[in-house]
Amino acid sequence: MRCILLIVWLVLPYLAPVLGALEFVGQGIKDALGEYMLTDIMTDANTGIEFADGEDGFPAFKFLSTADVKSPYQMLLPEKLYEFAILITYRQGSLKGGYLFSVVNPLDTVVQLGVHLSPVVKNSYNVTLVYALPDHSPGRKLASFAVDHVTDKWNSIAFQVYNDKVVFYYDCKVRNTTAVVRDPFVLAFESASTLYIGQAGSIIGGHFELSSNQRPATTSKQQPPTTISKLNISQHINEQYSCR
Ligand SMILES: *[C@@H]1O[C@H](CO)[C@@H](O)[C@H](O)[C@H]1NC(C)=O
Ligand SMILES: *[C@@H]1O[C@H](CO)[C@@H](O)[C@H](O)[C@H]1NC(C)=O
Ligand SMILES: *[C@@H]1O[C@H](CO)[C@@H](O)[C@H](O)[C@H]1NC(C)=O
Repeated sequence: MRCILLIVWLVLPYLAPVLGALEFVGQGIKDALGEYMLTDIMTDANTGIEFADGEDGFPAFKFLSTADVKSPYQMLLPEKLYEFAILITYRQGSLKGGYLFSVVNPLDTVVQLGVHLSPVVKNSYNVTLVYALPDHSPGRKLASFAVDHVTDKWNSIAFQVYNDKVVFYYDCKVRNTTAVVRDPFVLAFESASTLYIGQAGSIIGGHFELSSNQRPATTSKQQPPTTISKLNISQHINEQYSCR
């Protein structure tokens, strides 16, 4: 590991001119690589989280109804996103849906960037990329895609967010493409915004909970809570996402 860091530091000066436009200066190695693992904000200090095994040996996090995971977004994310990708692996425990993650303005009233799962209706739900500037109305959707709900299934989703389109991957295959207008094209976060995982703050909510018909009944097997494993935002869009 130390060796890899050394190499990165040796190579950085040569990358600097190239990456200058991405404003990595002062933000360190993570930003230079442009790959942000949002689960990095989870620590032992977070309440309502249990550790679990994810797919492919990834660590996974169970979101109990008391979960409250948040951090100043600047701890992890850059101030601006241009073209970017979001990769998430999750297993739903709730039919009520919720926010897998969100970056919310300082007043906690507008989700600037987030991925929302709608309630399940007739075994189907919508995965929505919420995207707004601070003065936009709350809940603005950039793209929404319908997905079948399968109990206990690990779902892998990815969004490639281009200037003019959003490509949605489900289980490592392109599922759909939507033309979008990003106006302005740059997503600039307000400086005191909050990064939440498994919710969108106290005002908007979007907390994952067990729905009432899943609460521990005397006979039925209790549904495990919603579990999130991979949760990455990348400033580089790979042309293709595959599972391996
Ligand atoms: C997620 O980001 C981390 C670095 O922050 C990287 O090591 C890992 O390979 C990324 N995973 C995927 C699937 O892109
Ligand atoms: C998904 O979104 C479409 C279009 O907005 C809507 O008609 C449909 O009812 C939604 N499905 C669910 C399960 O919310
Ligand atoms: C792709 O999106 C269009 C429009 O939203 C929809 O009609 C179509 O069914 C979607 N295709 C798939 C495979 O989900």
